[in-house]
Amino acid sequence: EHLASVRGPLLDWYDRNRRDLPWRRTKDPYAIWLSEVMLQQTQVSTVIPYWERFLKRFPTARALASAPLDDVLAGWKGLGYYSRARNLHRAAQEVVARFGGALPSTAAALLELPGFGRYTAGAVASIAFGEEAPLVDGNVARVFARVFEVEGLPGDRQREATLWALAAALVKGKRPGDLNQALMEHGATTCRPENPLCLLCPVRTACVAFRKGRVDELPPAKVR
Ligand code: ADE
Repeated sequence: EHLASVRGPLLDWYDRNRRDLPWRRTKDPYAIWLSEVMLQQTQVSTVIPYWERFLKRFPTARALASAPLDDVLAGWKGLGYYSRARNLHRAAQEVVARFGGALPSTAAALLELPGFGRYTAGAVASIAFGEEAPLVDGNVARVFARVFEVEGLPGDRQREATLWALAAALVKGKRPGDLNQALMEHGATTCRPENPLCLLCPVRTACVAFRKGRVDELPPAKVR
């Protein structure tokens, strides 16, 4: 059905088009967690050197937990949104105190840690641990709005619930971490906000907005 016609082509597309990013070469949950926190408000090209340097300074959750906060903030210098670094530090301390230094492996458990929201919990659980855990970020929301013709403005409660339900249904199956990353990558590169590249789109034939000529109206531009 509809979900399957999105899932397969999207994963195939990802296999052919995935960028070779440093955090895609590791299976270390801590390193993947760090990448997702940095990527939340910072673009990929900026994150790469920060991620490498931070991991050299603080190679494990245990090393991060035992470092003085000032050293952690110094390692974050230039990235901005310093609450991310403070939460990372606090979460690392909890991971050491409660889990012996190993991140818990489910989105539900990760959500209990400082700085983890639904997005980060879903990203780490699916990418690092292979849990069928959904995630929705801005890119994924746009892809879903178009492919499944989800109406409503960003932030609308009913729309958010619909998007998370779609993400949960779509991620069920093999390779949940790759599926989530494929959605984000597809939204960032092909199903982009302006001038989406529908002719190159792997899920064009499944896309309701494409079929109806509504790609430019979904999602609606923010009213301001
Ligand atoms: N944006 C944030 N994390 C990402 C990931 N793992 N893959 C693609 N885009 C992302």
